[in-house]
Amino acid sequence: MAVRKLAPEEMQPDSFTFSSENMEFVAQQIAKYPPGRQASAVIPLLWRAQEQAGGWLPRKAIEKVAEVLDMPQIRVMEVATFYTMFNLEPVGKYFIQFCGTTPCVLRGAGDIKKVLESRVGEQNHVSADGTFSWLEVECLGACCNAPMVQINDDYYEDLTAENFEKLLDDLAAGRPVKKGSQIGRRSSEPLDDVKTLTDPHLYDGSQIGAWRKRFEEEAAASATTGEAAAATASAPSTPKPAKPEAGRVIETEKANTPAKRAKEGEAPVSASERKEGSDGSKATAVEPRTENGAKPAPQSDKSYVATPSKPSEGRATADAPADKNNKS
Ligand code: FES
Repeated sequence: MAVRKLAPEEMQPDSFTFSSENMEFVAQQIAKYPPGRQASAVIPLLWRAQEQAGGWLPRKAIEKVAEVLDMPQIRVMEVATFYTMFNLEPVGKYFIQFCGTTPCVLRGAGDIKKVLESRVGEQNHVSADGTFSWLEVECLGACCNAPMVQINDDYYEDLTAENFEKLLDDLAAGRPVKKGSQIGRRSSEPLDDVKTLTDPHLYDGSQIGAWRKRFEEEAAASATTGEAAAATASAPSTPKPAKPEAGRVIETEKANTPAKRAKEGEAPVSASERKEGSDGSKATAVEPRTENGAKPAPQSDKSYVATPSKPSEGRATADAPADKNNKS
């Protein structure tokens, strides 16, 4: 993206004031937002200021918008310089945005660019008579009818060097011009014969609600053939419970709880028996042995087992601490 700067001082007007009609517009825009939120109207106000100033935003217009919205000037400046829809330098009466993105280039945008360069000159400069200026922009979303340009608020599509020359001639002479496709294509329909969506029923309204009609017909057909009645008749009047072996989780009395043991007549464990059972001095000590009967090696007093590291693989270990300064 090009660096977006305000126009040089010598191009800047001394003042900017909204016209009375535009001040009404400003009041309407501000009234759309709650008190204290008038800054939300910054973009429509900048747009209207640009229209009033002849297609670009002088410094004084940006400052005026900041004033009426009670915003710091730098905040409005940020918006104006960020969005490419705002022109920061004067533009021609017809401001041409030329699409230089791949689909348009593949369809001949290079020829259109040559016409612009020969008729208008370098981009970002207004022609000597003030009629035209142009700027190369990214895709304008009309790739189906590439190559194309936007002139002020309208698209001109399916351009060739010849029809674009004529278009510029007509604009310069004030003659009416055709917007959209320049070769008579309607909207973005195929250039040649239409090969898809050719069924006339798609356009006569007969397809509206077709899916509902189909479902209703199928339901009626199944009722007629007795399928629905047969399904109802075969349904059991008293559903049987699901079988546990069918994979469903069921509750069982498998837990060996004191309550269950008491229910089965087993004498509960007394408090003194419980105390005796938890006395470690009465426990039978069993010395650990390895598989061949030898005593195991004494254990570390650490409560974890360190993961073995391989210094050769570059991992830091306690014995071979990583030396951040050693680059070898
Ligand atoms: S590439 Fe030109 S309009 Fe999309």
